[in-house]
Amino acid sequence: MEQDVKIRITDREGVTHEVLAPTDMAMNLMEVVRSYELAPEGTIGTCGGMAMCASCQCYVVSDTELPEMQDDEEAMLSEAFYVKDNSRLGCQIHITHALEGLEVELAPES
Ligand code: FES
Repeated sequence: MEQDVKIRITDREGVTHEVLAPTDMAMNLMEVVRSYELAPEGTIGTCGGMAMCASCQCYVVSDTELPEMQDDEEAMLSEAFYVKDNSRLGCQIHITHALEGLEVELAPES
């Protein structure tokens, strides 16, 4: 059980889900959203997690400290729609213990 962190994800319909994400399966946040089917198939993770589609964009609502953005994430977000100051690409956020209590909202489909 301690392998899991609790994350709150608000889907594109505005419904908030509290999910448990495993820290020992090399998953990222986009894959967690997919595994809980919080966004319709084909609308998230379309590039397979390569920071090339922005379909996994989310807004970070909690003040959880996240790993710094890498250049490819920053570049993708500079071209994406609906980007806000707290936008991140879910596929670039790996599930670690540091994410306990993270709250995110999925960005609209673009
Ligand atoms: S899945 Fe394509 S950018 Fe994250």
